[in-house]
Amino acid sequence: MRTLQDIPELREALGEFRQRGQRIGLVPTMGNLHEGHLALVAAARHHADVVVATVFVNPLQFGAGEDLDAYPRTLLDDQAKLGSAGCDLLFAPSDATLYPHGLQDLTQVRVPVVSEGLCGGSRPGHFDGVATVVSILFNLVQPDVACFGEKDYQQLAVIRKLVADLHFPIEIVGVPIVRADDGLALSSRNGYLDETERATAPELQRTLALLREKLEAGEAVEATLATGLNRLQACGFVPDYLELRAVSLEPVTADTREAVLLVAARLGTTRLIDNLTLILP
Ligand code: PAJ
Repeated sequence: MRTLQDIPELREALGEFRQRGQRIGLVPTMGNLHEGHLALVAAARHHADVVVATVFVNPLQFGAGEDLDAYPRTLLDDQAKLGSAGCDLLFAPSDATLYPHGLQDLTQVRVPVVSEGLCGGSRPGHFDGVATVVSILFNLVQPDVACFGEKDYQQLAVIRKLVADLHFPIEIVGVPIVRADDGLALSSRNGYLDETERATAPELQRTLALLREKLEAGEAVEATLATGLNRLQACGFVPDYLELRAVSLEPVTADTREAVLLVAARLGTTRLIDNLTLILP
């Protein structure tokens, strides 16, 4: 696997793929890769002939006081994992390469409505940063297909809307959440958890599973969510939100059948997210 840091070299390598008529699959990441990311690489392999991964800790999507500086940067380890997962090319640009004119006055992409509320409510501007960097990566790589994890459920919805509105000729593939044996969704941020917090963390997913059971059995939504919030707090979480939405992320109505429970909660200083789809009776 080749690793490239500059745009001219990236364009040259991509040109060779295209000349050979190869379908290009893109997997954008912020690095510190785990099995969740590698499932995206496997999906991209399935949908394309060559896989391009990107590792870039995007400053634009971190708010003031968030973990931009602390975010784990493990490029050597990431290269080894991507190589063995069958990735063909890694693009790992610097901030100066991706944002040569800085962040001030940068052209930005905003995806209204679907970016609002949930993580967009607790992290103002976050999805503008995601939509902007993903648009830049789409323009640079011009992939045929790009893979994103369902773990970041709202992010996936934002990307689908972005691609539809800006007419990017890119197929978006959503990849199911990869979990640890105890149910905790894999995340680069799990590394921040101390031993006690790590033991508590799977309660997030267990709470969602419990709520799904109640909702599928026809229990009232508001009371069920209140039970969930209480349970999370009793376990030591400080919830940002716990919501039930239609799978489109629109509000649940009397007609909604396919729904999704979405949660974000802090455990100590670590912010965890998870989600679970369900069928309302
Ligand atoms: P990052 O958090 O590194 O995640 C990269 C991709 O891996 C995302 O599509 C995310 O949903 C997926 N992913 C992470 N954990 C997963 C898991 N346990 N199971 C399945 N997929 C998982 O998301 C970002 O980076 C950034 O916002 C990015 C899209 C790269 C833009 O900067």
